Amino acid sequence: MKHYGIQILWLVAAQIIVSSFAVQAERYIPSPPVYPAPMGGMIDGEWNDAYTKARAFVANLTLLEKVNITSGTGWQMGPCVGNTGSIPRLGFPSLCLQDSPTGIRYTDLNTVFPAGLATGATFNKDLMYLRAKAMAQENKAKGINVLLGPCMGPIGRAPEGGRNWEAFGSDPYLQGVAAYQSVIGIQEEGVIATSKHFIANEQEHFRQHQEWVAQGFTNLSEPYSSNVDERALREIYAWPFADAIRAGTASVMCSYNQVNQSQACQNSYLMNGILKDELGFQGFVMSDWNGQRSGVASVLAGLDMSMPGDGLGWADGIPYLGSNLTIAVLNGSVPIWRLDDMATRVMAAYFKVGQDPKTYPVPNFSSFTLATHGPIYPGTTESPSGKVNYHVNARGDLSREIVRAVAQESIVLVKNTKNALPLSGITKLGLFGSAAGPSPLGPNGCPERGCANGTIGIGWGSGTSNFPYIMSAVEAMGIEAINRGMTFEYVLDDYDLTTAETLAATIDTAIVFISADSGEGFMVVEGNHGDRNDLYAFHSGDDLVAAVAAQNENTIVVIESVGAIDMESWIENGNVTAVLYAITGGQDVGFAINDVLFGNISPSGKLPFTIAKHRKDYPVDVMYKVEQPVPQLNFTEEIFIDYRHFDKYKIKPRYEFGYGLSYTTFNISTISVTTATGAATDEAPALPPPYSAVVITNETLPHAKSAVYPADIPRYPKYVYPYITKSTAHSIKYDRSSYPYPKGYSEEQPTLPSIVGGGSGGNPALWEVLAVVEVTVANTGSVLGAEVVQLYIAYPEVKGVEFPVKTLRGFEKVSVAPGQSATVSLNLLRRDLSYYDVARRNWLLPRGRYTVLIGNSSRNITEAGSFSF
Ligand code: BGC
Repeated sequence: MKHYGIQILWLVAAQIIVSSFAVQAERYIPSPPVYPAPMGGMIDGEWNDAYTKARAFVANLTLLEKVNITSGTGWQMGPCVGNTGSIPRLGFPSLCLQDSPTGIRYTDLNTVFPAGLATGATFNKDLMYLRAKAMAQENKAKGINVLLGPCMGPIGRAPEGGRNWEAFGSDPYLQGVAAYQSVIGIQEEGVIATSKHFIANEQEHFRQHQEWVAQGFTNLSEPYSSNVDERALREIYAWPFADAIRAGTASVMCSYNQVNQSQACQNSYLMNGILKDELGFQGFVMSDWNGQRSGVASVLAGLDMSMPGDGLGWADGIPYLGSNLTIAVLNGSVPIWRLDDMATRVMAAYFKVGQDPKTYPVPNFSSFTLATHGPIYPGTTESPSGKVNYHVNARGDLSREIVRAVAQESIVLVKNTKNALPLSGITKLGLFGSAAGPSPLGPNGCPERGCANGTIGIGWGSGTSNFPYIMSAVEAMGIEAINRGMTFEYVLDDYDLTTAETLAATIDTAIVFISADSGEGFMVVEGNHGDRNDLYAFHSGDDLVAAVAAQNENTIVVIESVGAIDMESWIENGNVTAVLYAITGGQDVGFAINDVLFGNISPSGKLPFTIAKHRKDYPVDVMYKVEQPVPQLNFTEEIFIDYRHFDKYKIKPRYEFGYGLSYTTFNISTISVTTATGAATDEAPALPPPYSAVVITNETLPHAKSAVYPADIPRYPKYVYPYITKSTAHSIKYDRSSYPYPKGYSEEQPTLPSIVGGGSGGNPALWEVLAVVEVTVANTGSVLGAEVVQLYIAYPEVKGVEFPVKTLRGFEKVSVAPGQSATVSLNLLRRDLSYYDVARRNWLLPRGRYTVLIGNSSRNITEAGSFSF
């Protein structure tokens, strides 16, 4: 028996909940204890069937089989980035958990979709849904049970945040809509969606301390603590998770960071309290990869599955769960009902999306080699070998169509003067900058896409996928330009300004491509440890723009970027006639840029973040330096992120959230606002229904002897098994009194949910429609185009409560032909009109007059209406 395994369990348990580091500001209360973990299946509704099946299934399982469902087999111990234990007796397979929110990671013959941020920029709900559906079809074709996406945390409070591009943009409402559509799209195809990362995982620096110690930050002892006030926690960070849960997300991934001094994956306030009680989450919570920091304590705090299964160290083969969970149940530290609940939640998720071991494909690829044959368990020295890659072509018609459509609609035109775009009437065209062309190393030459030496389709890290190809602008535009009879030349060296200037001086139109990249913190690219170091274009892109613009008075800039960049040195240069933003557009990004530049389509993307004039204008910066062993990230901006901050402090941004031009013009008019008749509009919502009675699956505890390693199974080094050794079995004593349960620990299941809970996503009353807003959108220009109607709310005054000047609470994209108009209808839910009252711990509907602001950006409000409660 690995004695240290047990020691770790107890040791780390002793440190749970509140670390000793002082919280700098009083408003951040250390996460309070919330016990017990609410059992799944107590909310009557859409999960009923799944729970009936899951309970029947789990009632039949042995202790070891239950443990197996909840534990990963260890890093590289199976085909996928995460693999659970299987139940051979019942023909129940190991579940395959696989990245990423952009496309399948590590395989071949898959699609690389535009990333989350590009998807957010489309503001197109149908595309959000269809992209997820196409992605899930590919995942299913490869035999993936659990897709590790969508990602809606980070939300992007700091513009340099390394993984902002994986999520949908710097506003919780936008993230929530995209998360909702993504979960529906994924799960309709029978794949389990994973909504991640829960929660407040807003920067890469110091998110997982071992990773950063290895990068030289040796005084770190724990991941950073995101210190978030109660209101921001719910109105900003948990908001999109509520939408995902409402959509039925069957799993949630807890994050690497701490929140209010407690590790996110052992934080009972977050998992038991917010997720499972307040938001009524009925699926299972898995840890981020090695984000689990304790055994029993995490389980009691609401963690249901450990990934990838190893414990404190990467690939160390020493699990927190697996055999240690078997021991913890046998000795009474973890009550058997909790293990039953963990297993039932996993199985309910499985049945909720309609998976069935008889029909669901098994994994037909290996994450760890693209060769056809290789080790089956590459993580162990004694792995058997076999055929591991069947090279199944997962790409279908939907993927092909959607990948291009999302890329096209994600492109944001931010400047267009002197009729520069769409390109017309030119004969000599030139492209400049490495981002215009392919990477010299090829589409996948840099592991995990960790370089920025060509077209930027996505960022780097676990949110990536292998490109089947990546279409650069040089390739796509070359063909179109030649077909249109133009000359087509280029200089792809970012630093050879002399050659660039020479070409720029001889052509009609110069298009300069600049880029900025970021990714996950385990890789350093051009000195950026995941998060960007600054907001400037990579490779001195500003100099290239200046050099070309000095020679050519029709210089167009294309920005391929993971987020906002500082464009102040050239944006007002009169020779820079147009600027396009291509935000992580996936494998077809070059096609999409081409289509917009040549006017094959009219641009319709809107910025999902604010572009400031100066970095200091943003409310938040990444914390780059470690000043104490546990970095303290105080979210002092509270709910005032992105445009809310710029509005509050009356800062003029360069380009605001929601902004984007078109080749046509629109007129939004005739606002009508109606309040719903008969809807309850009291300040507090109606109380949610009580929980239904607890169902205990099977409380029998077997004899420890039954958990001993069978003689007839192979025992691979480092593989995580549920079994224990004979001597451990001999020494185990069932004793419920000696485990140091945390303060506030209880095992009594509540009969009533939190007043904000009781339904998937929260109190069902929060989802009632209280008002409907209608406007007419007319295309007053000369080409077909799509406009995004954006609805912002200005709330009534409430004593002692500060509201943003405006808050996004609705949007709809409509495609309208020239001379035509369309009516857009937007529903406002109680939730949209409420704020979280910290003292009353409830969502309250302020009394007084609400102003409805309609426009096509957060700063271009053209229609207003109002209503009162
Ligand atoms: C990332 C997750 C990812 C997991 C598995 C972690 O490092 O934070 O987003 O799903 O690895 O690869």
